[in-house]
Amino acid sequence: MSIRVESLCYVYHPGTPLETQALSGVDLIVERGTWVAVVGQTGSGKSTLAQHLNALLLPSSGRVEVDEVPTTAGALAAREIRRKVGLVFQYPEHQLFAETVREEMAFGPRNWEFPEEEIKNSTRKAMDLLGLPQELLDRSPFELSGGQKRRLSIASVLVSRPDYLVLDEPTAGLDAQGRKELLYLLKRLVKEGLGVVHVTHDLELALTMADRILVLEKGKTVFCGTPGSLLDELLERPVRGLCLPPILELVSGLRSYGYSIPYTLDSEELADCLEREIRS
Ligand SMILES: Nc1ncnc2c1ncn2[C@@H]1O[C@H](COP(=O)(O)OP(=O)(O)OP(=O)(O)O)[C@@H](O)[C@H]1O
Ligand SMILES: [Mg+2]
Repeated sequence: MSIRVESLCYVYHPGTPLETQALSGVDLIVERGTWVAVVGQTGSGKSTLAQHLNALLLPSSGRVEVDEVPTTAGALAAREIRRKVGLVFQYPEHQLFAETVREEMAFGPRNWEFPEEEIKNSTRKAMDLLGLPQELLDRSPFELSGGQKRRLSIASVLVSRPDYLVLDEPTAGLDAQGRKELLYLLKRLVKEGLGVVHVTHDLELALTMADRILVLEKGKTVFCGTPGSLLDELLERPVRGLCLPPILELVSGLRSYGYSIPYTLDSEELADCLEREIRS
């Protein structure tokens, strides 16, 4: 059970003066129960790729399959794919539309014809998971704070119990605690079998959380593999479109002064090693 992307190309506004080649020959596999991060600079095609994974955009060429069904297999197939693959938009304002939080939460499950009683229970559970108080149910989504809108945009997708969750910059707008809680929740859902695609600018986050990382630059794949192998590459030579995370720059600098410190992304581990080195 997986999402498979093969030789995906996408052109916005083909044949017009606005024609833009956003993706050029991208390949990716997302298995259920794994966390895949997609990183790259602004304009590298991350959101365009994300929108292909739930058939919101269809390939100009190449293919995207969800559990072996191509996203181009017709309206019925696309509907089933949208149930399986929940997409959380980069900007909550582009996703939220209902008059109340209750309606926002019920929209997806009603569309998939979940019974009303189940919708009520799932709404309560999904809001609890995202730390949204039930008192918000009658409020307008647009009156919520930035962080609450972000949480609602995730809860309103999770409530339909997708098999894959595609999140486009989900930690933007969350404070440090909110970010930590969300990452912990996602890790738990991945353990329970959810496939997660996490689009992010934050390489350090990708290196610490993901099972696999895809790096895009100008719509092309410059790397696809495990965090360990990306780290090895980064330490050997620059990877186009990526900068070394500051903590690794620091470790590199300390090693060049003769300190024997392992490459780590964990600041506590770094502090412990440094203390031992200074004492010895
Ligand atoms: N609706 C659109 N019409 C025309 N061109 C678009 C459209 N959306 C994106 N593009 C172009 O496609 C390319 C990829 O854009 P995309 O939004 O996928 O990048 P991104 O990696 O998500 O960027 P960011 O990190 O800023 O969110 C860019 O050149 C962008 O200008
Ligand atoms: Mg984007």
